Amino acid sequence: MPTNIIVTGGCGFIGSNFVHHVVNEHPDVHVTVLDKLTYAGNPDNIAGLPADRVELVVGDICDAELLDRIVPGHDAIVHYAAESHNDNSINDPSPFLKTNVEGTYQLLEACRRHDVRLHHISTDEVYGDLALDDPARFTEETPYHPSSPYSSTKASSDMLVRAWARTFGVRATISNCSNNYGPYQHIEKFIPRQITNIICGIRPKLYGDGKNVRDWIHTEDHSRAVWDILTKGRVGETYLIGADGELDNITVLRAILERMGQPADAFDWVRDRPGHDRRYAIDSTKLRTELGWQPIHTDFAEGLDQTIAWYRDNEDWWRPAKEATEAKYAAKGQ
Ligand code: NAD
Ligand code: DAU
Repeated sequence: MPTNIIVTGGCGFIGSNFVHHVVNEHPDVHVTVLDKLTYAGNPDNIAGLPADRVELVVGDICDAELLDRIVPGHDAIVHYAAESHNDNSINDPSPFLKTNVEGTYQLLEACRRHDVRLHHISTDEVYGDLALDDPARFTEETPYHPSSPYSSTKASSDMLVRAWARTFGVRATISNCSNNYGPYQHIEKFIPRQITNIICGIRPKLYGDGKNVRDWIHTEDHSRAVWDILTKGRVGETYLIGADGELDNITVLRAILERMGQPADAFDWVRDRPGHDRRYAIDSTKLRTELGWQPIHTDFAEGLDQTIAWYRDNEDWWRPAKEATEAKYAAKGQ
């Protein structure tokens, strides 16, 4: 059982939720968060956690010398750090290449030099998209077919992990998860963007025809799955994480509008995302049967209510980024 782990990207959305999960559920584990604190990283996400359990190192995963200083002595690295937003990757792919590909390479080399276990966090987007009427869902055997600069860099990072595991014996696992929702998600992303728009009196914005499907999972269920894979997963294996949460965007938006007391048509149709993936869907049978994982947050409406309440209660957390985020979208007609 690992007792001293590094969490890269632990000041971002999913990484910080994982840090909270480990602190709350696994009292013998110490966490070193390695985070560059980009626009998406916020130290407040882990503020208030006990100092003897969590240490923040501000730095870049591309910095090999820094990795040589901090990696030795740790049992495992859980690697969340990434540039994570598709729309940003269309505006400027370069930081995605740097962090997602080179950063993962540098972590793999550090794991090789210091013989440290790695769990690599990836996404269902590496598989490309499915048609709305396709009965299939993604499995661990689905061929890679990424569409966006973001997903192609995540696919590249997965390939590096597989190669380093096979060729150099790095003790690595990979998980590919579907769309997360919950607290601490940056307001550039779909659900928090619409919630905070409504709070600010701005009309929500829907891309294309609103029929694109995403497979929603609460971020706490993702964290529990990652812990199970880290501690019980078979080295060299990939596990898909999903909670059977397929919904189209207009259904999610209408649920947000209704829960926030708005009319069902109180939103704007805006320019579609170039190359917009139609549908993602995860078959997580392997994770469920092999490791016994199951989602706890199975009521999406309840999870949405909690998420809306979190953004209402934590306006200081997101307000400073709101104007600039919306200005960036407005410049693109979105
Ligand atoms: P996020 O954008 O909210 O957070 C990313 C974090 O990584 C930030 O704290 C940022 O400061 C840090 N970071 C970025 N570049 C760095 C670098 N070079 N060195 C060190 N730290 C750096 O992202 P997220 O939504 O929490 O996603 C986390 C991971 O989960 C990503 O790998 C993403 O591909 C994957 N993922 C996300 C989702 C989702 O729905 N958001 C679903 C599946 C997988
Ligand atoms: O599937 C996992 C992926 O989910 C992760 O790998 C990514 O890191 C994460 O950002 C997310 O990617 P998406 O592109 O699916 O998420 P996003 O929140 O950007 O958009 C969700 C859907 O909503 C998508 O179909 C685009 C649409 N959308 C998005 C925004 C921001 C809108 O209709 N309006 C919007 O304003």
